[in-house]
Amino acid sequence: MSQKEKLQAKLKENVELSALNTLCVSASARFYIDVTSLDDLRNALAWAQKNGHKTLVLGGGSNLVFAGEFRGLVMRMHIAERSWEQVDETGATLVLGAGENWHDSVLYAAGAGYRGIENLALIPGTAGAAPVQNIGAYGVELCDTLVSVTALDRESNELVCLENADCDFAYRDSLFKRSPGRYIITSIRLRLSRQQPLQLGYQDLKEYLADTASKDLDALTVAEAVMAVRHRKLPDPTILPNAGSFFKNPVVSREKFDELQVKYPDLVGYPKGGSVKLAAAWLIDQSGWKGYRNSRVGVHNRQALVLINHSGGTGQDVLELASQIRQSIHERFGVELEMEPGIVGG
Ligand code: EPU
Repeated sequence: MSQKEKLQAKLKENVELSALNTLCVSASARFYIDVTSLDDLRNALAWAQKNGHKTLVLGGGSNLVFAGEFRGLVMRMHIAERSWEQVDETGATLVLGAGENWHDSVLYAAGAGYRGIENLALIPGTAGAAPVQNIGAYGVELCDTLVSVTALDRESNELVCLENADCDFAYRDSLFKRSPGRYIITSIRLRLSRQQPLQLGYQDLKEYLADTASKDLDALTVAEAVMAVRHRKLPDPTILPNAGSFFKNPVVSREKFDELQVKYPDLVGYPKGGSVKLAAAWLIDQSGWKGYRNSRVGVHNRQALVLINHSGGTGQDVLELASQIRQSIHERFGVELEMEPGIVGG
């Protein structure tokens, strides 16, 4: 089969995407392809370019809002790979294809006795999407273990290897987020350790593990604890469709924090340098949104940072609710909330 015939066999038209985004909003893709190899990716990109179609790389669909039809080519990333490199007595480098499920990969690494990503258990999505927003939870971020990212650079059409320092990581941010469309991640490399101390400083985690003897603590125990803590607070997207934290925790100046604290003594903030990261969930909760729902969408009743699609809500419904929340936080606290998921289509 020629490359052209292979592509034609895989290309689909007018594909419904509600099962492919964790908010479960209805939207369609004009064209769609499951990408399982680098050849697929190159062929799909060449076809889209030749025919003047825009493209969208879709991973687990857990960090985007479909605002309507996507009138281009959706490329769902399925590139699979799990292998170990540079295994020595201190640790090993885990190579993950972009299409690997993130949570399964965490359990795989922790189950093999390697430390470094156990606190990131249960984060939905794929390994290839993880560097884009530099996923983080319970005191750990992906950039703490990431060695390099292999990506197709659409400017040169070459595969490039970007080292950690090249990726310009920050809180929920990276080079990939700041140059949308330029890089298509095909695999990532993580340096995991056999001995490094477990990160148990986060309050919820500390409390959950308080009765566990330190000799019984390993990467898998911690991953399981993280899963239990997340189950208590965060909704399972397969039951209550959601996109995780809908807003980033906003960073404000020390002066702004002090000014707010006079008025709101319980204000939750984490100082860092001359600025303070505020808990967006606290701001939203205090403004009375927690547990709010209209006929279709709402705010989770245990974590105010999570918006839920209760019943047939559209992306527009979710965005309308997000906009009302942002406005009310702006009016009450003078703080701007930034959305975490990207908006696509429409
Ligand atoms: N809080 C409230 N009301 C709520 C929820 C929380 O007042 O409804 C307060 C809590 O009391 C706490 C503070 O807000 O003092 C922070 O809450 P939490 O510890 O739940 O963490 P978060 O800052 O809201 C972040 C991440 C989560 C991650 C947790 C744990 C962001 C945007 N979100 O949430 O990430 O799981 O920390 O590390 O940074 C995700 O990205 O999808 C996600 C769930």
